[in-house]
Amino acid sequence: MDTLLGTDLDHAAALLRAGELVAIPTETVYGLAGHGLREDSLRRIFAVKGRPLSNPLILHVASAAHLSGYVRPDAVPAAAHALLAAFSPGPLTLLLPREPAVVPDTVTAGLPDVAVRIPAHPLVRELLTRLDFPLAAPSANPFGYISPTLPGHVLRQLGGRIPYILDGGPCQAGIESTVVGFGPAGEPVVYRPGAISLEQLRAVVPAARLRTAAEKTQRSASPGLLPYHYSPHTPLQLFGPGLAALPAFDPATTGALTLHMPLPGLPLARQVVLSPGRGDLAEAAHALYAALHRLDALGLQLLLAERLPNTGLGLALNERLEKAAARG
Ligand code: TXA
Ligand code: MG
Repeated sequence: MDTLLGTDLDHAAALLRAGELVAIPTETVYGLAGHGLREDSLRRIFAVKGRPLSNPLILHVASAAHLSGYVRPDAVPAAAHALLAAFSPGPLTLLLPREPAVVPDTVTAGLPDVAVRIPAHPLVRELLTRLDFPLAAPSANPFGYISPTLPGHVLRQLGGRIPYILDGGPCQAGIESTVVGFGPAGEPVVYRPGAISLEQLRAVVPAARLRTAAEKTQRSASPGLLPYHYSPHTPLQLFGPGLAALPAFDPATTGALTLHMPLPGLPLARQVVLSPGRGDLAEAAHALYAALHRLDALGLQLLLAERLPNTGLGLALNERLEKAAARG
């Protein structure tokens, strides 16, 4: 199949109504979208990504008002309303009790909660208002590989397998949404660190927290989460912070990804500095996946990546880097 790239919302909507898949821009990463309530479209998403059915999907809707058909309104904790008021539309995904008669098992991998998100990118917001169903959309990369933040990343990875890529330019945030569930006392619990930091969540709901080690090992708490993910094909090794724990490397076959300064002793053509001079984590998040795509395309033996400070967005960025390194 030919994959077209464009900004034709009518075409994208028609394909989605017919059960076809369309890559969509969001403020985090590009998504591989399909009809969120149609079994054939949902199965197609898993098939194109090569993703196991045990890893549930996020439903994307146009506004908080559209959530009511898919989640049980009586079972939404007060903290969820507070987070929605503060961060939607935006890079926030909430795990809420699903309406079982409406949301297919295939979306949630049989779990009682459904992941829902209200994306902020203007093109996808406009697309959602034209549809009378939610869009199921994982990141538009083959399972386990680097997430796409440019239409060209999607074309390279999924070209020939989907009919259309809606071109919304570069993704602004550059890393995935923060996935938030709710604990026994209704407190927000971060399941996946992402574009909204724990500090930002706590400014709205002070009880917001990360998962405990015990919570992480329950199956329902980490569906389909693997130790590796977001991975380049080239082996990746972490060092730092700063130059700490920098391994010996062959400058002829090594590339590097750093926060604010290039590595000494390595040609600049094989390095990406995420936020030159500033070390700004939001700028680093915006640039991270494109940098990994670019370095991976060089066909090197080894990529060295600097660990970032573990505060703010650094938590989410380090999680991505650790998973990228775990494949080895
Ligand atoms: O920013 C994003 O969230 C992007 C854009 C396209 O919206 N989407 C995305 O989807 O990252 P995906 O499928 O690559 O990641 C969804 C994450 C997975 O870690 C999945 O396990 C988790 O959300 N998840 C989905 N439904 C869940 C559920 N019912 N319970 C627990 N975790 C869930
Ligand atoms: Mg993903």
